[in-house]
Amino acid sequence: MKIAVVGTGYVGLVTGTCFAETGNEVICVDIDQKKVDKLSNGQITIYEPGLEKLFIRNLKEERLRFTTNLAEGIKDAEIVFLALPTPPGEDGSADLKYVLGVADDIGKLLTDYKVIVDKSTVPVGTAEKVRNGIAKNFKGEFDVVSNPEFLREGVAVDDFMKPDRVVVGVNSERARKVMSELFAPFVRSGNPVIFMDERSAELTKYAANAFLAVKISFMNEIAQLCERLDADVDMVRRGIGSDERIGKRFLFPGIGYGGSCFPKDVQALVKSAKEVKYDFQILNAVMDVNEKQKLHLVPKIKKYFKDNLKGKRFALWGLAFKPNTDDIREAPALYIIDALIKEGASVVAFDPEAMNNVKTLLGDKIEYAEGQYEALENADGLIIATEWGEFRTPDMNKIQSNLKSKVIFDGRNLFDVDAFQKLGFHYESIGRAAATQSI
Ligand SMILES: NC(=O)c1ccc[n+]([C@@H]2O[C@H](COP(=O)([O-])OP(=O)(O)OC[C@H]3O[C@@H](n4cnc5c(N)ncnc54)[C@H](O)[C@@H]3O)[C@@H](O)[C@H]2O)c1
Repeated sequence: MKIAVVGTGYVGLVTGTCFAETGNEVICVDIDQKKVDKLSNGQITIYEPGLEKLFIRNLKEERLRFTTNLAEGIKDAEIVFLALPTPPGEDGSADLKYVLGVADDIGKLLTDYKVIVDKSTVPVGTAEKVRNGIAKNFKGEFDVVSNPEFLREGVAVDDFMKPDRVVVGVNSERARKVMSELFAPFVRSGNPVIFMDERSAELTKYAANAFLAVKISFMNEIAQLCERLDADVDMVRRGIGSDERIGKRFLFPGIGYGGSCFPKDVQALVKSAKEVKYDFQILNAVMDVNEKQKLHLVPKIKKYFKDNLKGKRFALWGLAFKPNTDDIREAPALYIIDALIKEGASVVAFDPEAMNNVKTLLGDKIEYAEGQYEALENADGLIIATEWGEFRTPDMNKIQSNLKSKVIFDGRNLFDVDAFQKLGFHYESIGRAAATQSI
């Protein structure tokens, strides 16, 4: 099939590459000339495990092309995917200016039947707005479909190639056939393509993200209780996770959820609910809990240093909002950095993939280390904000010899409390007893 993907970010690039990988002819459109130039020259613009290999292969085999020209992009396409940003507007609702702007432009360019597929996360009723936007300028036949994306950054290629389910909101038989054919190679193992009305499809995406955010904030509150009741959240997690109704996944406490999806999608769903006069109480609480949790380590750090962080130097492991991505949108690490700097401390950070994005955002507000152990040199303590695999079994001798004092604040519960106790560290994590050592 001939496919256009408009918007070549985390979702668009994975979508375009994976469709090319299954033999389709894909052209990706983006307004960012630099990004398009880089991609056209074989330079990948995001870090996503496994993506580069597929990207290079499909680029070489000319099944994957890039352009800034929307007209050229959609001219021969049978299906046009919109993978455009839907950032929060000032009032917290999803800002649809990118999606509706491109819908308007597409309307001006259409000359024959195409299926326009909304892959961006958009509030209920957006497919209809997209349809109206196109119909203003194009009087011929076309269909608009809602196909929300459930991929997770860090495992996006696997998620796209072998989805648990594909959700398609569609109200025309013709478009349904096109979508069935397109997704058939991805669901050969029997996972479902779930067809539904477009409004339900739009809501499904928000419901999924909001539910996962509920799980995270719930466990973070249990962790808060554990700290106050002298219980161990790891034990509680294992104790409840083995109940099939609860499930083992997404029960890890930490320093809150971040990223480009959960924060904005929870907020947008609350706003959508408000618009229809419904107060979504659970989600309001989820957002409050998360705001506090992002900074949960800071009072612990302040308490340890007797409320005086002036002149203290902290090593920070992990900047990305989660491991295996370079995405730093709403990353808890950024909130911690901000709080520490306000207290007069300095930060030297290391992240395996996200350093360039943080350099662009923060410049010389912090220092950047060559490696995880270099970050520790002369530091008064180590803070862990992202659970990258390579942080999990560190060289303890190097930690001991490089850190000025044996102090660790672990926002991701990477280590055994007992191990640090034996080594004489002050080690604090989330929802577990602290291994204590005073300065
Ligand atoms: N990132 C995720 O993990 C994820 C997962 C599921 C769903 N989503 C949703 O998918 C959508 C896209 O998210 P993303 O993370 O890929 O965003 P992104 O910011 O990484 O990418 C968006 C791209 O669109 C381009 N763009 C903006 N305006 C354009 C225009 N007028 N024409 C062409 N290109 C334009 C930008 O230059 C950018 O490259 C959002 O609605 C998001 O909520 C994201």
